[in-house]
Amino acid sequence: MEKFRAVRIFEEDGKFVKKLVERDIAELPEGEVLIKVKYSSLNYKDALSCIGNKGITRKFPHTPGIDAAGIVADSKSEEFKKGDEVLAIGYDLGMNTDGGFGEYIRVPADWVVKRPEKLSLKEAMIYGTAGYTAGQSVYELVTSGVKPEDGEVLISGATGGVGSHSVRFLSKLGYDVVAVVNGETEENTALAMGAKRVISREEALDNSGKALLSQKWAGAIDTVGGATLSTMVRSIKFGGAVTTCGNVTGAEMPGITVFPFILRAVKLIGIASAYSSKERRRIVWEKLADEWKSDKLQMGIKEVGIDGILQEVDNMLDAKLVGRVILAHE
Ligand SMILES: NC(=O)c1ccc[n+]([C@@H]2O[C@H](COP(=O)([O-])OP(=O)(O)OC[C@H]3O[C@@H](n4cnc5c(N)ncnc54)[C@H](OP(=O)(O)O)[C@@H]3O)[C@@H](O)[C@H]2O)c1
Repeated sequence: MEKFRAVRIFEEDGKFVKKLVERDIAELPEGEVLIKVKYSSLNYKDALSCIGNKGITRKFPHTPGIDAAGIVADSKSEEFKKGDEVLAIGYDLGMNTDGGFGEYIRVPADWVVKRPEKLSLKEAMIYGTAGYTAGQSVYELVTSGVKPEDGEVLISGATGGVGSHSVRFLSKLGYDVVAVVNGETEENTALAMGAKRVISREEALDNSGKALLSQKWAGAIDTVGGATLSTMVRSIKFGGAVTTCGNVTGAEMPGITVFPFILRAVKLIGIASAYSSKERRRIVWEKLADEWKSDKLQMGIKEVGIDGILQEVDNMLDAKLVGRVILAHE
């Protein structure tokens, strides 16, 4: 029976304890595809799973890691064969199904896509769930009909994971991106990523209660929800679109009525990247691999081994983490 190393979170006397353990492959959950994980990445959801957040993980012991990229070690699916290089993100991976913080995962074939030719396994994990979600948001905005010549596109949370990739992709596609930022450091970051200009969080908010505001943006990508999303919807130009994926500032949309939709034909597009169809994932990953890929993708990346990932989890929880952490398995 082959042994492998994995981070494991145990619930002991009401406390959650993080350990690096040795496991048997036979202990992994049922699934059609066994993957030898080469890379994973650290996401906030992983950190929450490590401290026993039941909104993320209900069953312990558990191995976090919502992103994984590796090589098929065994497959009961005709779609994949031993040796294929594959990616698995989303669905239940790392939530209640053992994830990429272990050297092996076993998952349903539906969760797996083949690595695009022009994207390495490591690059795929640099994108991870945040990059993929940005890719899907941009894809939906573009296919909804918003074109560069229609005007500026607003992005909230523009220096966060989803926002920063969205800024890069849309700038690369020739859109005039306006980034919502908080302070000078974020302003410089957003401009360096390709934003044409920035506005403050306050400028992105309207609390007047008006059902319609002046038409400013051809489109918008929102990552924060709440009043920011509401203000975007009310200030989109006729026929434009907004994508929504997060709720860090609130789950409600105060002041939203039907008027932006029935008088301005505004489209509000929901992003649930964890459950996007296999075909959509294939299309978006191909874009990330080629047309939308930045030559600066590897900038600001810290690579650690399985021995170092728990320290990075603590750093993330203590808000001491700068940049993105990639877990490289041996
Ligand atoms: N629906 C999906 O498929 C999907 C997939 C992935 C993620 N998400 C969600 O999308 C959201 C963004 O994810 P992420 O990975 O980009 O997170 P992130 O890296 O933590 O970025 C969050 C961004 O929001 C900004 N922000 C925080 N508080 C704010 C406030 N009060 N007003 C305005 N902006 C604020 C942050 O700015 P500072 O850095 O200055 O704090 C940061 O730019 C999260 O809610 C996440 O759960 C959804």
